[in-house]
Amino acid sequence: MGLNIGVVGATGAVGRKILDILLERKLDIEELHCFASERTAGEKLDWNGRLVVVELLTEEAMKQPFDYILFSAGGDISLKYAPIAQEAGNTVIDNSSQWRMTDGIPLIVPEVNGHTLRNYQGIIANPNCSTIQMVMALAPLHRIYKMNRIVVSTYQAVSGSGHKAIVELEKQMKDPEYPAQVYPKRIAANCIPHIDVFNENGFTKEELKMVYETHKILSDDSIAINATTVRVPVFYGHSESVTVTFESAPRLMEVKELLRSEPGVVLMDDADNLEYPTPLEIAGTDDTYVGRIRKDLYDPCTLSMWIVADNLRKGAATNAVQIIEKMEELKNQ
Ligand SMILES: NC(=O)c1ccc[n+]([C@@H]2O[C@H](COP(=O)([O-])OP(=O)(O)OC[C@H]3O[C@@H](n4cnc5c(N)ncnc54)[C@H](OP(=O)(O)O)[C@@H]3O)[C@@H](O)[C@H]2O)c1
Repeated sequence: MGLNIGVVGATGAVGRKILDILLERKLDIEELHCFASERTAGEKLDWNGRLVVVELLTEEAMKQPFDYILFSAGGDISLKYAPIAQEAGNTVIDNSSQWRMTDGIPLIVPEVNGHTLRNYQGIIANPNCSTIQMVMALAPLHRIYKMNRIVVSTYQAVSGSGHKAIVELEKQMKDPEYPAQVYPKRIAANCIPHIDVFNENGFTKEELKMVYETHKILSDDSIAINATTVRVPVFYGHSESVTVTFESAPRLMEVKELLRSEPGVVLMDDADNLEYPTPLEIAGTDDTYVGRIRKDLYDPCTLSMWIVADNLRKGAATNAVQIIEKMEELKNQ
């Protein structure tokens, strides 16, 4: 028997990508149910050669038995409907930030802490896109050298703000008068150092997500993390400039070898041949790419690097589908 899967927010940027990735990764799916709001309920989505009718999200619908229900319709929808689905015995994989920091709810990057899902049933949180790619690259180094401090600046694509933001950048690129609606300022030909709301300590909520989610995923809240998150006029793929200080001094060759052998990480680091990842080149792929690895000029325990991943894929949909794969693998062990 194949899996019975529900996708809530199936018509959105992440939801559509989830539908693609379920197919690409060849999950054995018997039934697929797509849910969205009254705006798109009744529309038909082309999936695997068949037309799937978008169903209206209702409490009753969430009480049906599913093997997995993936949510990507915003925090309020997850807050209301995920517990209903869970109480009905369903496993929920939530892409919003609603449940990420809730005690008892696992926050999962399968390659890093997927093993903690053994015998778990309930809501599973998918981390923030920027956190996922940073943790993918740093976890293998943390295991060996132990991180003390991370300073990260992000360069985040507009697709991270959903379908409307993609349209806003497209329109502004053609029309200098097109107004800013999704973002507080014009995004075309600009950089906006402001993602999500400001906290009273001066950091934004997105920056604090990178701090606390990293602590939770690595089960280590001793790491000092300082993040600056910036929206840039790129359609797909988040980039990060990361400077990380370890307890012991890493050898550069060994670091590269560790990253080269890490599943889901691709080392692209050969400056002589202009080999380093850029979002335009890696968009549409599922790995996390690392380049520009170099030792700090003053501190032998500090390294800098450049990390890039497709935010809709590894930063959201792929990670969510990999959680299903991990759950199935653990069940079959
Ligand atoms: N984009 C990313 O890179 C990214 C990464 C990680 C996590 N996330 C999270 O994933 C979620 C979705 O993001 P997105 O970028 O896909 O947004 P989006 O493109 O705006 O899509 C939103 C989806 O939610 C549905 N929805 C909205 N209100 C609803 C309601 N009242 N009832 C049922 N469905 C409703 C929409 O359906 P209609 O078509 O009917 O309006 C649409 O399918 C957000 O929580 C976001 O924070 C996004």
